Amino acid sequence: MKLLVLNGPNLNLLGTREPDVYGHETLDDVESGLRSAFPDVDFSFRQENGEGALIDHLHTAHRRELNGVVFNPGGYTHTSVALRDAVASIDVPVVEVHLSNVHAREDFRRTSRIAPVCIGQISGLGTRGYHLAVRYFLKRNE
Ligand code: DQA
Repeated sequence: MKLLVLNGPNLNLLGTREPDVYGHETLDDVESGLRSAFPDVDFSFRQENGEGALIDHLHTAHRRELNGVVFNPGGYTHTSVALRDAVASIDVPVVEVHLSNVHAREDFRRTSRIAPVCIGQISGLGTRGYHLAVRYFLKRNE
C-alpha cells in the first residue's frame, strides 16, 4: 500500500513550535514512528510551506495512483479554496489530520475548508492521529 503523508506550513518546526500546543515530537519523529509502526506501507513524506507545492503533491498522488493521503494542511485548512479544489479534483482518498483539537481553540480554527472533501478529519490526538489515519487506510484496502 502506498501512502503520502503531506504536511503544510510551519509543520517543519514541530518540536520547537508552540510545544504546549503541538508537543515535543519533530516531523522526523513522526516519520520514523510511522515507518517503524507500519513497515509494510510504502510511505512518501512531504512537507511544504507553500500552497502551490502542496497542490502539486496532491496532483502527483493522483498520477501515481496512491492508496491515500494523510494530510495536515496546517493554517491553510481554514483558508484555502485552492487546496480544497485540489483534494476534490483527485480520486485518491484524503484524511485530514490535526495534532491539536482545532475545535477547542480560536473560532477561526473551527472551520475547515478542506474537511468536507476529505473522507474524514482526525483532530486533537497529537501524533497518534497520523497513526490512526494509516490504520484507516489499511482497513479500507483489506
Ligand atoms: C494544525 C492546526 C492549524 O490550525 C494550525 O494552523 C497548524 C497546525 C494542527 O496540526 O493542529 O499549523 O493543523
